[in-house]
Amino acid sequence: MSAEPAGRVLIASNRGPVSFSLGDDGKLTSRRGGGGVVAGLSAVAGRAEVLWVCAALNDADRAAARAAPGGRLDVSLSADGAGRPGPESGAGLGGPESMVRMLDIPALVFDRAYNGVANSTLWFIHHLLYDTPNRPLFGLAFRREWESFRAYNAAFADALAKGAGPAIPGATARAGTRAMVQDYHLTLVPRMLAERRPDLAIAHFSHTPWAPPEYFALLPDDVAREVLEGILGADHAGFHAQRWADAFLDCCEAVLGAQVDRVARTVRHAGHTTTVGVHPLGVDAPQLRTRAAADDVQAHVTALTELAEGRKLIVRIDRTELSKNIVRGLAAYRELLITWPQWRGRVVHLAFAYPSRHDLPEYREYTASVQRMAREIVDEFGTEDWDPLVLQVNDDYPRSLAAYRLADVLLVNPVRDGMNLVAKEAPLLSERGCAVVLSREAGAAAELAEGALLVNPYDVSATAQALHEALSMTDEERSRRAALLAQASASCPPDQWLAAQLSALETAARRQPA
Ligand code: G6P
Repeated sequence: MSAEPAGRVLIASNRGPVSFSLGDDGKLTSRRGGGGVVAGLSAVAGRAEVLWVCAALNDADRAAARAAPGGRLDVSLSADGAGRPGPESGAGLGGPESMVRMLDIPALVFDRAYNGVANSTLWFIHHLLYDTPNRPLFGLAFRREWESFRAYNAAFADALAKGAGPAIPGATARAGTRAMVQDYHLTLVPRMLAERRPDLAIAHFSHTPWAPPEYFALLPDDVAREVLEGILGADHAGFHAQRWADAFLDCCEAVLGAQVDRVARTVRHAGHTTTVGVHPLGVDAPQLRTRAAADDVQAHVTALTELAEGRKLIVRIDRTELSKNIVRGLAAYRELLITWPQWRGRVVHLAFAYPSRHDLPEYREYTASVQRMAREIVDEFGTEDWDPLVLQVNDDYPRSLAAYRLADVLLVNPVRDGMNLVAKEAPLLSERGCAVVLSREAGAAAELAEGALLVNPYDVSATAQALHEALSMTDEERSRRAALLAQASASCPPDQWLAAQLSALETAARRQPA
């Protein structure tokens, strides 16, 4: 990291850098958390004293949190990746005091906050997912969920306030300790924390898109205000893309009547100024390439190469998530085979859609729709010696990396997405330089527009047309675009992403009156 943070850094995220499971023998085993966000945030661990506060997500996590002395988990935060559970403490990696604190929030409160508000309400709002003739319906049940959401956010604010150490009397946010609060789950935390600890510099980062004001206004008025005022408790609010930052400013103006300066990108509300920044997250290319060269990935490369039998591969890899638009993606593949029958027998679609949020009925139904559509395509076009589509619904990271390496075309068509790192990972690994068909509604489209074929994710015929163009592209054109894609994907890797936020927070905190 270029910016050298001093003092303590507090990180708060719903999903932490480690998770636990309970074996048949009743023993707890731990797994490191994956993904770019955890890797990005872990990058700070080598440079500063870190306290990472996260929620216990299931019974095994709760048991581990209860068993941890003083709530401190036996987890090392390493700069080279994520939380690494182990016998040793955090000493030596993130400084002697670095640690993870997993909050044992009562299961019912957690369920209402995480499933009811975060994933069924705020996620739906920011991704424009509601079937509006029927939902949302904000009644008494929602009010119970909202109370739990407040309690869950307050638990984080309390833990952060306590973990920040003794307050410096009379100090303002100019002091050394910084808190970096992540995502829509914790939208109320910045304000709650600022009230408890005015001496901290606080940043919030949204990993999702932000809804336009008309759609944001579906929320009950008081809830809409509380969400915005929650984030405005921070000194700095970050987003992956300009569009989402602009939408946030629009909402602050429309809903709160806040004073918005679009040039300086600041919001002034209730006597406090929040700066708003765009910090797109990229991929750690050397680390990804090293991982993709490992033996377990190579074994999948061999298996998938045999499966393809020399045919071109269209690859997609997603959580089975409503916003990922998998059903329309499959419909586009079907149209490709109908409109351009020359591809029949010459292409295979690998669709890896791994399970996500199965506590929510909408997600279970969506998984069923994906499977139904996949069966229909196989029935309609499959022959004795050609499987047009291979749908895998289990998570297998080495197999996903192998698919990236072999892809001729990558399809990423979310209806809306904060960033989408799949669109950035595949170009860095694909051996033939894959063409990328990308939704214009993904945050990544801002950086990948020159190299990708952008599509309207609702337009299935246009997506089919883009798939046809991608498959038909000359080698020169594909290589030209692949080079642009790889370059854009590797810029702003997690450590730089984090450093940019810390330095923006530094500047923002200095603006606050002493
Ligand atoms: C999105 C969110 C993350 C979240 C991830 C997985 O990327 O922005 O905050 O961790 O989805 O969702 P889950 O509900 O499984 O944590």
